[in-house]
Amino acid sequence: LFSREETRCNNRALCFCASPLSFCLTGEAFGVNVTSQTQVVRGTVGREALLSVSYSSSSSDKPVIKWQVKKDKVKPVTVVQSIGTEIIGNLRPEYRSRIMVFENGSLLLHKLQLSDEGTYEVEISITDDTFTGEHYIKLTVDVPVSKPYIQMMASSVLEYSEHFHLHCSHDNGTKPIYSWLKGGKVLTNDSRLLLSHDQKVLSISRVLMSDDDIYACTVENPISSMKSIPVRLTVYRRSSLYIILSTGGIFLLITLVTVCACLSFAVDVVPKPTTLGRRSPMPLYVLNEDVSLSFIYKTSI
Ligand SMILES: *[C@@H]1O[C@H](CO)[C@@H](O)[C@H](O)[C@H]1NC(C)=O
Ligand SMILES: *[C@@H]1O[C@H](CO)[C@@H](O)[C@H](O)[C@H]1NC(C)=O
Ligand SMILES: *[C@@H]1O[C@H](CO)[C@@H](O)[C@H](O)[C@H]1NC(C)=O
Ligand SMILES: *[C@@H]1O[C@H](CO)[C@@H](O)[C@H](O)[C@H]1NC(C)=O
Repeated sequence: LFSREETRCNNRALCFCASPLSFCLTGEAFGVNVTSQTQVVRGTVGREALLSVSYSSSSSDKPVIKWQVKKDKVKPVTVVQSIGTEIIGNLRPEYRSRIMVFENGSLLLHKLQLSDEGTYEVEISITDDTFTGEHYIKLTVDVPVSKPYIQMMASSVLEYSEHFHLHCSHDNGTKPIYSWLKGGKVLTNDSRLLLSHDQKVLSISRVLMSDDDIYACTVENPISSMKSIPVRLTVYRRSSLYIILSTGGIFLLITLVTVCACLSFAVDVVPKPTTLGRRSPMPLYVLNEDVSLSFIYKTSI
């Protein structure tokens, strides 16, 4: 170990080792320093993604660049290794003709697939440099969301109704996150206006007049956001008429309707006294209207 360190340091004009255990006093100057402004790249399926880095080193030699990807709970997989921009060896089938490495170490991935998502690590070393520079960039890959739409049980509802639901759905788009707007304001979970765990369903446990409003839902993911066409929910007040109708008032209504019908019937069938008088010389048989009305009324009751 000692001799190897010494050899390595001896290759450098300004290097000298302070201890046999690998630390060079001026080590910082020899390492490759990888920098990037980017921590996360949000990619779209079918498009391309640039995992942009650059490096600095005191050496002008070509660097050895190695990109690896780590996906959920799987061992890191080498994506590509190159000397400068020249790729070494064969690429894995899933990366063939989709990959480019730039002079500055950046990786360009074409025709993104959902399976490309993961954390990418780049290691850049220059043959005789002491330290290897490395950097991590997270790549997400998504399908843009399509416009969501609302389905509700009815467009109008009576006050105090229970368990009224509104559903938000969308056709396309990965990792959707739903939210709801009432009168343009974002709804939060509340004891009366309940949001399902995935926020797709809005349930009104007991409808109040204040729920008469315009509702919309939004769906978003790392690359896109869409809002549904707003829908109007009309809430009707439980009026006094409704209470009468629902508490035996129906019987009263039927009676009234019958009476009205009979009134008009009686008026129609009883001929006018003038014409009757002309046809018949016996005015004695002509019932006056009052008598016929009370008679028919009684029989119908
Ligand atoms: C790497 O570069 C950054 C920015 O230029 C600088 O702040 C940092 O000190 C450098 N690190 C090393 C080890 O040289
Ligand atoms: C690296 O090079 C590529 C291609 O020239 C460029 O698009 C990218 O911005 C560079 N990255 C940095 C961090 O300079
Ligand atoms: C959803 O994706 C399918 C297949 O890519 C496409 O045919 C359809 O038009 C998309 N639907 C919407 C609402 O964008
Ligand atoms: C809203 O609250 C209900 C009941 O407290 C709960 O079951 C539901 O998961 C909550 N929804 C959200 C989006 O937190």
